[in-house]
Amino acid sequence: MKELNLKPVIIECQMDELPADEQFLLTKAIESTNNSYAKYSHFHVGAALQLENGIVLPGCNQENAAFPAGLCAERSAIFAAGAQYPNMAVEKIAIAAREPSGELTAEPVSPCGTCRQVMIETETRYEKPIRILLYGRNRVYVMDGIKNLMPLSFTQF
Ligand code: THU
Repeated sequence: MKELNLKPVIIECQMDELPADEQFLLTKAIESTNNSYAKYSHFHVGAALQLENGIVLPGCNQENAAFPAGLCAERSAIFAAGAQYPNMAVEKIAIAAREPSGELTAEPVSPCGTCRQVMIETETRYEKPIRILLYGRNRVYVMDGIKNLMPLSFTQF
């Protein structure tokens, strides 16, 4: 019997401690919250991807009266990337959100389970871990690879 070493590594920092491209990506995720369609939850989530070729693509949540028909910000960005740049690896994703009050969240917002699963698929597809940046006014969390949020994930059958 042995203990598996599956410990997540998550860096806590302030936005201005990050390199310029990552500050830019977080800014784009924050901007994207303004395009979110969140008629029902009033929780406006924005995402921004950085692709291998340097292109930055935004995404934001798109809700629907039939709730499950809506889509999270992360998947809207990742699927848009797959549709427009199918051969380009996703290197980084930044995520930010606004409360119903319109204020950016004080704490980082972590992706839902389904978005984590899609990120795992994206890492597997391009054989590259995705650097994940989660924005909060108080702190930013940064990690290399979705394994830090979802160990023992399902990748093949
Ligand atoms: N949402 C996201 O866009 N990303 C997440 O990772 C968590 C939740 C959206 C879905 C829904 O539109 C709203 O936030 C409230 O759950």
